[in-house]
Amino acid sequence: MDADQIEFRNALGLFATGITVITSMDGDTPMGLTANSFNSVSLDPPLVLWSMAKSSSMLSAYQKAPGFCIHVLGSDQQELSNRFAGRAEDRFANLDWQKSQLGLPLISGCVAHFECRSEHQYEGGDHIIFVGRVESYAADAARPVLGYHRGKYVEIP
Ligand SMILES: Cc1cc2nc3c(=O)[nH]c(=O)nc-3n(C[C@H](O)[C@H](O)[C@H](O)COP(=O)(O)O)c2cc1C
Repeated sequence: MDADQIEFRNALGLFATGITVITSMDGDTPMGLTANSFNSVSLDPPLVLWSMAKSSSMLSAYQKAPGFCIHVLGSDQQELSNRFAGRAEDRFANLDWQKSQLGLPLISGCVAHFECRSEHQYEGGDHIIFVGRVESYAADAARPVLGYHRGKYVEIP
């Protein structure tokens, strides 16, 4: 990355976000990644978006998958964020998860989750933008969430 790109990335990093883990199935194998590109799009119909780096080893599997599940992490789940940004083969090892009604990996203990059918995919430079239709969700509004700001984790009360 050259100096201009670092400056651009640092400027973008001033925009504080939450942290999510986005899971799906590659055939019979669960997959997932940490993502802070999640955002809401539409209430009616209920749509959300996130973007995936084209360089990801999981890109084609996510492009083929019928849906994905977005998990919002709590402030006590930094380890989970690091795990899903780390070595891909270790991500579900000894993790408490089950298959949802849509057949998507549902990780226990998160602050909220949104189960989505994959509705649109758009070109976005070095990323692909995924838009999902929320089919079901659950949320624990009382818990503090994990945030990300200036390249560091922060607690959002
Ligand atoms: C805080 C944080 C936010 C991230 N957000 C995204 C994201 O929005 N989209 C993305 O494709 N990767 C994102 N990543 C990177 C992925 O979590 C992870 O590094 C990537 O899936 C590596 O997968 P690969 O082994 O398939 O290349 C983020 C990582 C961190 C630590």
